[in-house]
Amino acid sequence: MTGATPPNGADPKTPDRRQLLLGWGRWAAALAATLFVYPLLRFTGFQVPRKPRLVEVPAPLPLSGVHTGPDFLLFAAGDSARAVSRTCTHLGCRLNYQEDKGYIECPCHQSRFTPEGQRFAGPAERNLPTHQVTLKKDAEGRTTAYVVQL
Ligand code: FES
Repeated sequence: MTGATPPNGADPKTPDRRQLLLGWGRWAAALAATLFVYPLLRFTGFQVPRKPRLVEVPAPLPLSGVHTGPDFLLFAAGDSARAVSRTCTHLGCRLNYQEDKGYIECPCHQSRFTPEGQRFAGPAERNLPTHQVTLKKDAEGRTTAYVVQL
């Protein structure tokens, strides 16, 4: 007989019934809290704030002054730049900039927007959302990139 064995003969490495039930109880309480809290948060409309995504577009842009990204259109001239969403406010189709016509057009139902994102034709009823653009400059003050915050 070894000295580590308790007097009742149970193995000291295996948890006793009380510890096992306490462990299961904690898991059950955590599950119940999750099942209660999650629908409550959904009901109240709580959303975890989204971390902004930064997209860097190297300067200079093509001669047209327009960069077409997957999610935005960037218009830049000199030290001013603006970016508008490429998602149509009607039903969500991806917009294209018609360079020869000077406006943004939706290929689905032909809503049209100015390069500033103002709607002027078609079934879309809202203007395009705009995105903040920051200029990155080198030591001599030349713009090296445009950083679009999505
Ligand atoms: S989805 Fe763009 S006009 Fe309908």
